[in-house]
Amino acid sequence: MIAKRLNVKRTGDETGTIEETKRMRCRDLKECQRMKKKKSNRVKSLFNYTGNKYDLLDQLYSNFPKGKHVMLDLFCGGGSVFVNLEDKRFAKTYANDAITPLIEFFRYLQKEKFGVIKKELIKRKIYPKDKAEYLEIRNRFNLHGNFLDFFILSSSCHNNLIRFNRTGLFNQSWGRRGITDYTWKKMKVYHKKIYQNSRFVFLNEDFMNLQVPDDVTFVYLDPPYQVCEAGYNSTWEQKHEKYLYQFLDQLDSKGIKFLLSTMLNHKEKKNELNDKLENFFSKNIVSNYTKINRHKKPTNSQEVIVTNYETDPI
Ligand SMILES: C[S@@+](CC[C@H](N)C(=O)[O-])C[C@H]1O[C@@H](n2cnc3c(N)ncnc32)[C@H](O)[C@@H]1O
Repeated sequence: MIAKRLNVKRTGDETGTIEETKRMRCRDLKECQRMKKKKSNRVKSLFNYTGNKYDLLDQLYSNFPKGKHVMLDLFCGGGSVFVNLEDKRFAKTYANDAITPLIEFFRYLQKEKFGVIKKELIKRKIYPKDKAEYLEIRNRFNLHGNFLDFFILSSSCHNNLIRFNRTGLFNQSWGRRGITDYTWKKMKVYHKKIYQNSRFVFLNEDFMNLQVPDDVTFVYLDPPYQVCEAGYNSTWEQKHEKYLYQFLDQLDSKGIKFLLSTMLNHKEKKNELNDKLENFFSKNIVSNYTKINRHKKPTNSQEVIVTNYETDPI
């Protein structure tokens, strides 16, 4: 490689001249700058989600189908994926999740001015001073299900990780935290992206009951990973996992493209339904789960994306 480069420098005017090399470097640099600009425009989720895809956006977006699409983000969670999509290519995006106060919160951000949202949150106590105050908010939420309380809980609970029990009650413990100046800053930029932006349509359905809207051409699926544990997994059962594969077949037979994020195995657990994915294309992803752990030992976890269309080689 080095020899080749040296050679290029000596042969002044053929293809591969100094000028050409400079132009290529410049193009690379421009591409880098373009990518950096794109990344710096990205906004972070307001929820600390286990399995949040923010850090994987490049790997995901580069494997999304080419061209213009109406997308459905079927398990939108904290909302990192749909909010950062290129608006020219994704002029309309549906975002669905089974958690009602989460979707109500997104709808509120879309409809209400930032100042009003801030005032309403402040009225409800944004920084519980002790466990008793936290539990008061938690009880109030479990009684009335208010989406503002949900956001306050997610900002003040342990590790900011939302967690429900099997009966749907929020049961995460107090985290000695709350809504801070940093939260407001993040909220302001997230709000700016979706406020009065009609390209986002929010749905709140269990995916097993959802009628995929007729105009959808591409579905992104990031379901709870059965082989991993997360606080929102408590209601995810084998029947959901099985139906998921039927759902993929249905999308495929209707000619709707899909990209599924999933885990083939995690630590000692193997995804029992892996063989159901054999008819589709799959690609390994470098993910948070696959990074080496603190003992510097590689884990045997493997996160993949599965598509019903061919993607570019790595
Ligand atoms: C892995 S998270 C999605 C994370 C998201 N992609 C992000 O970047 O933040 C999975 C989501 O699926 C939702 N979910 C679980 N069961 C569901 C169901 N039956 N129907 C629809 N959504 C469900 C959970 O509430 C959770 O928000």
